[in-house]
Amino acid sequence: MKVLLVGNGAREHIIAEQIARSAELYAIMSKKNPGIAELAQKFYLTNITNPEAVGLWAIKEDIDIAFVSPDVVLAAGVSDALENADIPIASPIKAAARIEWDKSYARSLMKKYAIKGSPNFEIVKTRKDALRVIKDLGQVAIKPIGLTGGKGVMVSGDHFGDIKDTMDYVCELLKKDKQVLIEEKIIGEEFSLQLFSDGKRISLMPPVQDHKRAYEFDLGPNTGGMGSYSTGKLLPFMCNDDLEKGRQISQAVIDALRKEDVEFKGVLYTQLMCTQDGVKLIEFNARFGDPEAINVLSLIKTQFVDILQSIVDENLSQVSFSEKPSVVKYLVPVGYPNKSIPDSEISIDKKKMWDSGAKYYYASVYENNGKIYTTNSRAVAVVGVNNSLENAEEKAEEAARCVHGPLWHRKDIGTYSLVQKRIENMGRLRA
Ligand SMILES: Nc1ncnc2c1ncn2[C@@H]1O[C@H](COP(=O)(O)OP(=O)(O)O)[C@@H](O)[C@H]1O
Ligand SMILES: [Mg+2]
Repeated sequence: MKVLLVGNGAREHIIAEQIARSAELYAIMSKKNPGIAELAQKFYLTNITNPEAVGLWAIKEDIDIAFVSPDVVLAAGVSDALENADIPIASPIKAAARIEWDKSYARSLMKKYAIKGSPNFEIVKTRKDALRVIKDLGQVAIKPIGLTGGKGVMVSGDHFGDIKDTMDYVCELLKKDKQVLIEEKIIGEEFSLQLFSDGKRISLMPPVQDHKRAYEFDLGPNTGGMGSYSTGKLLPFMCNDDLEKGRQISQAVIDALRKEDVEFKGVLYTQLMCTQDGVKLIEFNARFGDPEAINVLSLIKTQFVDILQSIVDENLSQVSFSEKPSVVKYLVPVGYPNKSIPDSEISIDKKKMWDSGAKYYYASVYENNGKIYTTNSRAVAVVGVNNSLENAEEKAEEAARCVHGPLWHRKDIGTYSLVQKRIENMGRLRA
């Protein structure tokens, strides 16, 4: 069986590994990921957001099933091009991925179908309306409507001191997009609930918590994600009801899309926050998270290609995972995220990594004369899986020590003290 994967980050590297377990991997990448290239039967370098280029190669290679991974590629309609070429596809078409690339669509859909869990919000088109809404809501989150690579949302207190700062950003967005989403600021602990959907049924993956801030103690600028942890079951600050509400919101949005004649097939990522008023929805993503994919795919027991097939055939059954803790840490270039120093050579002691039982996945690196170099983005993800969170974290640290070069990472992700802080925070809010 020939399985096509579109994408070239660390998230795609672990997806590639899963595919290669039981099928021939065909990969389309915008830049060569050395890990994916090694696993692939064949790979093709092109602009992956070009639907025609991807479609033509898939036809030429006689692909049996395709999985399109990154948000920008889904938003560009690459799944649609594959579908139009009669290639079975286990990823959302552009109209379904709209749940991610159009934040106003997601919120409006929730409103229309009375799906619980939205904070108060308004989509505004003028400065006057924006000022009224901000005065009305008090603390707010200001959101560009489209994709921004995780760098567009700004929140009162975190990024804005006063109404003037807030309005400056609103005006900037209105000028660019003609509309902006303003939400009531909610407070609590966030988690990522990823799930498979065949358009009708869903199958949940274990919840994961990501860390967006660059520095320890959740300080510094936002990043693509510095690392994540999962217990394989509930996160330590969650209760059963939080997961159940997350499941309900996810199922409800899949049902709502179907009522709009849009089938959501593929991976849905429901981003949620536990608050004192229960679980709230932050946003939907139409794909795996990166790093969160690495947590869950390290634990998956069902053959990944079989899941893809069941999505295509619309007979998804429950996917199984081992209930083990996992910790992912991203190793990033010196100066990341704003002043990264690229083009530095890095090396991995693969034997030592193997002995440690941990694993690594290449993110944004390139190869030259057999050597690996950094770019401006995240370089390598390491993951430790073990019988306790503490041991999984230690294993991830051991793995980080096997990667040499001018890189750094957050040492606090998955540690007892940070997780304890999350538990205490949630305890205070619930009290
Ligand atoms: N209503 C909100 N209240 C408080 N914080 C929010 C709110 N919406 C988003 N955020 C914060 O901003 C981050 C980014 O927002 P999100 O909607 O996920 O956009 P994106 O991931 O596309 O940047 C979230 O992870 C969360 O920390
Ligand atoms: Mg998000």
